[in-house]
Amino acid sequence: MNPIQGSKVSVIGAGAVGATTAYALLTRGAARTVALMDINKAKVDAEVLDLAHGSEFNPAADIIGGTDASVCADSDVIVFTAGAKQKPGQSRLELAETTIKLAQQVLPDLVSVAPKAIIIMVTNPVDVVTYAALKTTGLPPNQLFGSGTVLDSSRLRYLIAQATGVAVQNVHAYIAGEHGDSEIPLWSTATIGGLPLLDWTPMPGYAPVDETVRERIAHEVVHSAYQIIEGKGATNYAIGLATTRIVEAILGDERRILPVSTLATGFHGIGEVCLSLPSIVDRRGCDMRLDTPISDEEEAGLLASARALRATIEQFGL
Ligand code: 2OP
Repeated sequence: MNPIQGSKVSVIGAGAVGATTAYALLTRGAARTVALMDINKAKVDAEVLDLAHGSEFNPAADIIGGTDASVCADSDVIVFTAGAKQKPGQSRLELAETTIKLAQQVLPDLVSVAPKAIIIMVTNPVDVVTYAALKTTGLPPNQLFGSGTVLDSSRLRYLIAQATGVAVQNVHAYIAGEHGDSEIPLWSTATIGGLPLLDWTPMPGYAPVDETVRERIAHEVVHSAYQIIEGKGATNYAIGLATTRIVEAILGDERRILPVSTLATGFHGIGEVCLSLPSIVDRRGCDMRLDTPISDEEEAGLLASARALRATIEQFGL
């Protein structure tokens, strides 16, 4: 049987990110059963009904909902999106306390009904929440990790594609570190159609991707979530797709390289934190990080990002 056809994915939280992730999972046919869980019964029932009414137009799937963990029983993958909503101007790290408490409350029940599920933490601040979730559940780091900078890397690739006039699928570039203000674009290993981005010769009508352009792109990647939240209250479409891509890599045993947030202790001297680096994602979850070469400047940025995350983690006694 195709691993995707018989699989069950549960999404925790029926807010903008959870509902959109469920929608993306259904439209892409990523799972045979999609379960949505939220403590707000009226909200979860309404989202499930609305999603179910689109069934005719999607690949075959069942969509179910509920207010407790039983609806997630025997899931292959659990996507955790529940948590405090980021207000305009608020940083992801400021959401930590509420979200950590919620994850600590809900995760044990989820693990007991779906002990083999791969758990993807999406709620912000995702790196800190992922670390807290690992401690709470005691699950091995390959089984529980965060969506990390998969979304930021997609923003980076989009902006490089726009600046160079090349399809986004032919741009390969990663953001490493925190999913947040201290994240680091790995320019030294970025490529366009196999050519190093740093040696890229612009096509007619396009400017070189020089330091000024790279700084502008990096700034836009970091600040775009703030801009979207300012304008519409939340980001949901791109994170829904990014999360669905991670789910597909797991269920399809794809061994896809994605910058998910995993325990990074020891890598380049990083302390005890979860952060993103290009890693292999497959049916076992994520248990292999690439030994990506990084420049001295990138390494310094990555270590600073790790220190910022460690400082937040320590505030919560973790
Ligand atoms: C995003 O980057 C807010 O973390 C969310 O879109």
